[in-house]
Amino acid sequence: MISFMPAGDTSIVILAAGKGTRLRSDLAKVLHRAGGRPLLETMIRACRPLKAAQTLVVIGHQAEEVGTLAESLGAQTILQNPQRGTGHAMQIARRAIRKSAKLAIVLPGDAPLLRTETLAALTDTHRRGEAAATILSAELADPGAYGRVVRDAEGRVLAIVEDSALTAEQRAIREVNSAIYCFTLEKLWPCLAALRPENAHRELYLTDAIAMLRARNERVLAQVAADANEVLGCNTRADLAGADRVLRARKAAELMNAGVTIYFPETVLIDPDVSAGEDTVIEQGVQLLGSTRIGAHCQIRTGCVLHNTRVDDGALVGPHTNSIDSRIGPGADVGPFARLRPGSDIRAGVHIGNFVEVKKSVIHEGAKAGHLSYLGDASIGPGANIGAGTITCNYDGVAKYETKIGKGVFIGSDTALVAPVRVGDGAYVAAGSVITENVPPDALALARSRQVNKPGWAKARRRALAAAKKPAKRSNRRAKPKSRRR
Ligand code: UD1
Ligand code: MG
Repeated sequence: MISFMPAGDTSIVILAAGKGTRLRSDLAKVLHRAGGRPLLETMIRACRPLKAAQTLVVIGHQAEEVGTLAESLGAQTILQNPQRGTGHAMQIARRAIRKSAKLAIVLPGDAPLLRTETLAALTDTHRRGEAAATILSAELADPGAYGRVVRDAEGRVLAIVEDSALTAEQRAIREVNSAIYCFTLEKLWPCLAALRPENAHRELYLTDAIAMLRARNERVLAQVAADANEVLGCNTRADLAGADRVLRARKAAELMNAGVTIYFPETVLIDPDVSAGEDTVIEQGVQLLGSTRIGAHCQIRTGCVLHNTRVDDGALVGPHTNSIDSRIGPGADVGPFARLRPGSDIRAGVHIGNFVEVKKSVIHEGAKAGHLSYLGDASIGPGANIGAGTITCNYDGVAKYETKIGKGVFIGSDTALVAPVRVGDGAYVAAGSVITENVPPDALALARSRQVNKPGWAKARRRALAAAKKPAKRSNRRAKPKSRRR
């Protein structure tokens, strides 16, 4: 990350009071997520490296939830209620902007693709140009419903005109307003006070301040963003999906630059805080969520969903493994189709095979549970072998109990271990047992009924069944003769 000069004379103002009507949602727009984070969080994080004197978020719609998020990220908040437009939002913000602030960087809450470098360049242009306002604009092939930047014949900015107010001629303009600006506050304040709600929405538009500044002979600049994608606002679900795609691609590129192989990167979903080490391979359709941390030389095979999971160096996570709040130790081999629920601690060299579910259990070094098991509230000793279909019966309908299996234990297939229960080091449990009592070390536990064989029983039964089915002779004669082939 590049380091920026501290901007002690600058206040950052994020306008986040709007509802986001076009999303058709119960959730305020800025709480919708793209790239694994709420839009507002992404905006606040993009501003942080600028080291401004304050970050102020104007809240209104779902003020409590939006305010809690903003404050948890170190921002200040101010309430705009009712919401009468972006110009009104700035009027409200004025009450909380530090008196010492000379500049304000104003941003919408819904432009998560914006980069810190672009904001720094905008401020730089503003300062060098000694402007009253500098607009971050973008050239779009399809300007959609964005406000347009109108310039005169010499290329000087005259005004921002909202989509609903465009003349036929202005409609051809491709340069749009990003709603990201740098203002010199002493110049902005008189214009804000003069805003009138003379527009389609009966709102006070911050964009109207631009023409007002020009009318007062103030300098207004517009800087065209090098990457037009950076200014895209998220007004619809389709916009959100587009922003998510770009943020995910950036994250995948970051990991690839750090030495991670990703097959079909457009198919993976990696949250911003995830890390992965060199020579790790991530296959298609993988989701790495929350605070997941993957070591070096790991293989995360297709379809895995790993949430807040630590995977240590050299581990293999087989296809379609699902893990949350768990750890997979170095060189462990898990899946395909393994399920690790919270508190699964899979130690070094362990093998967890297909359709094995683990919850709140430690599987110590080198133990194996290859097939179709449930291991919950258990401790499985080093080198133990858990046969196919083994179940720890940890719940009696009221409380949970623990199962402790010692070092080098062999549990035969289809064993039920009724907790609380212990199997001592080196013991064997015969297949099909229901273990209700502790097994001493090095013992063999057999807990199933003895087998009885009845010779000839099956053959006799088949004969009896065939005789009962045989049709009566009369009906036989009437029926059409069947083929005589024998
Ligand atoms: C705005 C700009 C438009 C620009 C576009 C870029 C205005 C009038 N128009 O339009 O020129 O092309 O952004 O994305 O500014 N907000 C408040 N209080 C309010 C109203 C809005 O805080 O009373 C906040 C919203 O939460 C949002 C931001 O201001 O984060 C922008 O509002 P939005 O409704 O998205 O404006 P656009 O119609 O997109
Ligand atoms: Mg918008």
